[in-house]
Amino acid sequence: MKSSKDDEQSPRLEPETALVTRGRDTEAQKGFVNPPVVHGSTVLYPTAADLHAHRGEFQYGRHGTPTTRALQDALKALEGPQCAGVGLAPSGLAAISTTLLAVLKAGDHVLVCDNAYRPTRNFCNGLLSRYGVETTFYDPFIGAGIAALIKPNTRAVVTEAPGSQSFEMPDIPAIAAAAHAHGALVIDDNTWATPLFHRSLDQGVDISIQAATKYIGGHSDIMFGTISANAKAWPVIAETIRLLGVCAGPDDVYLALRGLRTLAVRLNQHHRSGLEMARWLATRPEVSRVLHPGLQSDPGHAIWKRDFTGASGLFSIVLKPAPQKAVDAMLDSLKLFGMGFSWGGFESLAVPFDCSEYRTATTWAPGGPTVRLHIGLENVDDLKADLDRGFAVFNAA
Ligand SMILES: Cc1ncc(COP(=O)(O)O)c(C=O)c1O
Repeated sequence: MKSSKDDEQSPRLEPETALVTRGRDTEAQKGFVNPPVVHGSTVLYPTAADLHAHRGEFQYGRHGTPTTRALQDALKALEGPQCAGVGLAPSGLAAISTTLLAVLKAGDHVLVCDNAYRPTRNFCNGLLSRYGVETTFYDPFIGAGIAALIKPNTRAVVTEAPGSQSFEMPDIPAIAAAAHAHGALVIDDNTWATPLFHRSLDQGVDISIQAATKYIGGHSDIMFGTISANAKAWPVIAETIRLLGVCAGPDDVYLALRGLRTLAVRLNQHHRSGLEMARWLATRPEVSRVLHPGLQSDPGHAIWKRDFTGASGLFSIVLKPAPQKAVDAMLDSLKLFGMGFSWGGFESLAVPFDCSEYRTATTWAPGGPTVRLHIGLENVDDLKADLDRGFAVFNAA
């Protein structure tokens, strides 16, 4: 590959190829494969006339650099033809809060899935409520039934596909059809599948969000968020990013771009290893249920098969009823599964969780303690052996 200037004439490429080639301009990069990491605030203008007119490819560090442009171009190609623009934020949560502030105003109503990432709920119940926006939480399995919850002032519907603790899979095309019939925008937290496995903008979503901290970064070493929007939503997203002064640090922008180049190979491995571990866990006597939409037994399987091309490495298990101290003893005994709240890196993780602490539209009663697992890039036989030892401790506790 010699050069990959992103212009309208570029051929449509398969996602894996787009991930490797887009956002690269060999000539501008003086022959180097990667763009420079531009640390910059001031951009100098050659003449007073250019300065008065704000004329120039780049105008101010916060508004974009060659590094941010490279990442935005690559992400836009991955999101597909519906994507009109990609905004960059310093974390996944900042991408979510910026989006909600962009599309909502005092007096509006927003519908949010009951399995949403908890800080998303906190933002709605906290800041949005103080600013006069009302939130209603809905059952993530609601599908077309969402129409019954839409009010004249409903401006947006938030989905998470699937919920990142409990893994209910929403019917996004059905939700989007109902939302659009009433003029509401659909915002999807697509962090679990990434646009590689779920082109949410092709399925009626107007704004697709990534906590790029997870799989796009891929190495547990950055905080980053992206906001990809269609032509209808992009102007207000772009304007709000500018008004709020949202931008990301150059080193994290670069690391997100570097992560993106290997996203396909990593995510395909997470898919394979995750499914193998999920199937193995489903046979364990200590496990009563595996919450993974890629399993045929999962209530969201048909939707996953229809709308997704793969699964990532994140899913949960419900254990047979046992005291929390047995679960904690098991977690403490694991050598390869670390305990930590982010995910999407190369390493395996295990964390206990309890959705009943915050759910309001649905009841969370799984019938036993729940643990979320992230299956990393280790050998699956080693991971099984680690969990096997952990289950022995669980049984003995
Ligand atoms: C589904 C989901 N969305 C958003 C976020 C927020 O991302 P960040 O940690 O980059 O703010 C997370 C983080 O765990 C998440 O799991």
